[in-house]
Amino acid sequence: MSLHLRYMLLRDVPEVAMIDRLSFDLSWSPRTYEFEIAESDQSYMVVLETDTPLAVPFWRRWWNRPAWWGRDTLPQRLIGFGGLWKVQDEAHISTIAVHPAYRGQGYGEILLAGMVGRGLTLGASYNALEVRVSNIRAQNLYRKYEFQVKEVKPRYYRNNDEDAYDMRAYYHTAGFAERLAARQALLQERFSLIDSYTQSERPYTVKPSSVQISDYL
Ligand SMILES: CC(C)(COP(=O)(O)OP(=O)(O)OC[C@H]1O[C@@H](n2cnc3c(N)ncnc32)[C@H](O)[C@@H]1OP(=O)(O)O)[C@@H](O)C(=O)NCCC(=O)NCCS
Repeated sequence: MSLHLRYMLLRDVPEVAMIDRLSFDLSWSPRTYEFEIAESDQSYMVVLETDTPLAVPFWRRWWNRPAWWGRDTLPQRLIGFGGLWKVQDEAHISTIAVHPAYRGQGYGEILLAGMVGRGLTLGASYNALEVRVSNIRAQNLYRKYEFQVKEVKPRYYRNNDEDAYDMRAYYHTAGFAERLAARQALLQERFSLIDSYTQSERPYTVKPSSVQISDYL
């Protein structure tokens, strides 16, 4: 199986929105993803794509009728996605999710390593993110990449008033860039991975007035 880490495009939005719905209590709308891809000049959205989608038994395909039946939950070409905002010297990880069928196999780490690396190539001095205090799985992933809790944001999540940890990782920490490069090299060894995100410019210019919509497809 070959994997491709690349910028999110408008044509990815239906599948991204499906993974989002399966992953979060508070979902982003498809329109929000369209804005992040095509209209925000601070946003660096990423997807991890496989060339070999999971084989799905016939009965599950039947059960997962089209979207208007509300059961479009099967993994297709996208394994997961993430979002990075570059605002002044902060690289803010706005979202990250892996389709439930693919979790626990290293794919979330590929996405996170890609975004941390992209923040570095964009010249940020630190990474920041918010995570639910109950989300131990995600916190473990972030700690692996040297994120530490900076503070608690009380009642941050509006669906259940849960607190968030504000976690940070600093690029100027001694040896950070080298350790990140070593982790990325391990991922390259473990997976057949093409990376057109971490070191790459966006494949389009985010200036809605001057670009054709076809540039984003
Ligand atoms: C968080 C998430 C992106 C992780 O992706 P993943 O593909 O399952 O994670 P990986 O397989 O790459 O694991 C990377 C690390 O995460 C941690 N981790 C993964 N699964 C875990 C589990 N079941 N329990 C505890 N830690 C776990 C480990 O530190 C792991 O590193 P290791 O393999 O060296 O032990 C994924 O679980 C997800 O989409 N969750 C729902 C959405 C979400 O919570 N997003 C975060 C919002 S802040």
